[in-house]
Amino acid sequence: MKVLVVGGAGYIGSHCVRQLVAAGHEPVVVDNLVFGHRKAVAPEIPFYTDHLGNVDAMRKILSEEKIELVMHFAAFAYVGESVEKPLKYYDNNFIATLRLLEAMLAEGVKKFVFSSTCATYGVPPSLPIVETMPQAPINPYGQTKLDVENALKALAHSDGLSFAAFRYFNAAGAATDGSIGEDHNPETHLIPLVIDAALGKRENIKIFGTDYDTPDGTCLRDYVHVDDLSRAHIAVFDKLATPGTGCFYNLGTGTPYSVREVIEAVEKVSGKQVKIVEVERRAGDPPALYADSSKAKSELGWKVEFDSVEKIVETAWAWHSAHPDGFGD
Ligand code: UFG
Repeated sequence: MKVLVVGGAGYIGSHCVRQLVAAGHEPVVVDNLVFGHRKAVAPEIPFYTDHLGNVDAMRKILSEEKIELVMHFAAFAYVGESVEKPLKYYDNNFIATLRLLEAMLAEGVKKFVFSSTCATYGVPPSLPIVETMPQAPINPYGQTKLDVENALKALAHSDGLSFAAFRYFNAAGAATDGSIGEDHNPETHLIPLVIDAALGKRENIKIFGTDYDTPDGTCLRDYVHVDDLSRAHIAVFDKLATPGTGCFYNLGTGTPYSVREVIEAVEKVSGKQVKIVEVERRAGDPPALYADSSKAKSELGWKVEFDSVEKIVETAWAWHSAHPDGFGD
């Protein structure tokens, strides 16, 4: 299938592009390279740097490239920044996504795969999180993703759009052949930061809060390999064959790891000791978030290949230690 991957040069998007090629599909990438990396996408793949909110540009690409399905990964994803600059998040994550959908409908492209997030649940009433739980985001980032989810439901009804929205837990890891990996600027995610400390690029790793009501006092998260996430995006294609269908899936391994356990995993994999500094809680961090992904497993046949944080860290370590400056751009 001919697939437009919006945000295809970003972390999850670029891994999905590779999975699409491996599965025999033909990806076309749109990425304005604000956060994406040109080197994360193979040179032979058609690449456009237009903004997803430019309806005319998107219509032209959709029609000239004969696109059948759109995957949308492009978003600002810094939770803290979204609290400080909500307009930036509403503009890019919500309004620009509506423009992309407008372009699709104008060109008769009615299959859509959307990157949503566990941040749409806010602080869940119980764990693990199932898709039917109430969604009550506690920051504008999560709210903009939920707003798109709701728009998709309305468009399925009004225009026969078929869509899948994947609510990711903590995406992590790198391609197993060491070709691409995680390179955010600034980096805020735990695993790459601990790896930077192990590589001597940072003096220490700060643990944000050691007084949570969790077994070792630090936050619990569900780390899921970026290639496992990507595979779900392709496994859902059959579901989108029926016009007007919409589905939502949690994507996580279901196994929570504490911040301390992640640090230990990096120490074990790297063979390096990391200096830990315990600091105050980071605002807006829920104590524990982990998924019940049985819906994706039963409906899509989705299977997690990287079933421990150590296996995920091994792939991340391989990439970061070989590319200490990331993509170098
Ligand atoms: N953490 C530290 N020290 C650090 C960085 C992180 O202790 O230097 C802790 C955090 O407090 C948290 C855990 O490590 O408990 C994981 O933090 P990340 O920043 O790696 O990931 P988050 O769980 O905050 O964020 C993820 C996604 C977001 C999504 C959010 C929903 O990256 O896109 O889950 O809660 F919005």
